[in-house]
Amino acid sequence: MPLITTTKMFESAHKGNYAVGAFNVNNMEIIQGIFEAIKASNAPLIIQVSAGARKYAKHEYLMHLIQASLEVYDVPVAVHLDHGEDFEICKSCIDGGFTSVMIDGSKYSFEENIKLTKRVVDYAHDKGVVVEAELGKLAGIEDNIKVADKDAAFTDPDQAAEFIERSGCDSLAIAIGTSHGAYKFKGTPQLRFDILEKIEKLIPAGYPLVLHGASSVPQDLVEACNKYGGKIPGAQGVPETMIAQASKTGVCKVNIDTDLRLALTAAIRKVFVEDPGAFDPRKYLAPAREAVRQVVERKIKFLGCGGKGHEAL
Ligand code: G3H
Ligand code: 13P
Ligand code: ZN
Repeated sequence: MPLITTTKMFESAHKGNYAVGAFNVNNMEIIQGIFEAIKASNAPLIIQVSAGARKYAKHEYLMHLIQASLEVYDVPVAVHLDHGEDFEICKSCIDGGFTSVMIDGSKYSFEENIKLTKRVVDYAHDKGVVVEAELGKLAGIEDNIKVADKDAAFTDPDQAAEFIERSGCDSLAIAIGTSHGAYKFKGTPQLRFDILEKIEKLIPAGYPLVLHGASSVPQDLVEACNKYGGKIPGAQGVPETMIAQASKTGVCKVNIDTDLRLALTAAIRKVFVEDPGAFDPRKYLAPAREAVRQVVERKIKFLGCGGKGHEAL
């Protein structure tokens, strides 16, 4: 099976009122766990690679591991750069075989963000690669942002359509209250579905939106980490019901990294506590890979993309 872009995936997701999971990868076990789940669930898939992942594992290793998975699992996949911070990293990933890149200009002014995004779009489209951009800022509780400033960080619905038109981006990440990491909310979790609704009314029909920071931080995984010697108190994510709700809207791509990290860590910690004599890496990496598979299968259920098939992509 070949590498594909996200274009048809998003069209189907929008029409079918579901979302596609975009999972961050850093090593072979994570890649294999994700592919196992996707194959078993017959779900579409986006594999995403951050700058940190490229630095850790090297671009070529990750690309070859993904290529190997295409052969072994025989499913089509999009390979996406997560949070590209400048033109150079986007160019490097486009030239290096990625089918999708994110240029994250959210820290710049509206005009600067458009300018940078358009530059990446022009280069990417020339090579058949699609581009995700971001408008608004994802602010978590750890960012220490005051309530008034937090409001300013949400995506401005009135700007969204202009941004899409002028930058030419193929999908847009929006800020409606999610944030990265395991500490997303202090009190009751809240997402601004009202802002999402406004954005959808103002952008072209069928245009794909992206939700970053969408891990649910399942409490059983947090408890397992803590039970086996971890220290992640008070971790809280986006409830799975909210992810399910967002997946039925114009949100076509949902980014998940933290939940994979938690699953993997809990599994490894468990082996170390229960079998202190274990030092064969396969003894703890095999359960870690299995834990990744299980958490991805759980995600697929809430995203609604299970059984959506690979044939039409
Ligand atoms: O949004 C960020 C992703 O979770 C990737 O994290 O930059 O530590 O690889 P990373
Ligand atoms: P989480 O930290 O919620 O998993 O978000 C990951 C993400 O948005 C990657 O871009
Ligand atoms: Zn993100």
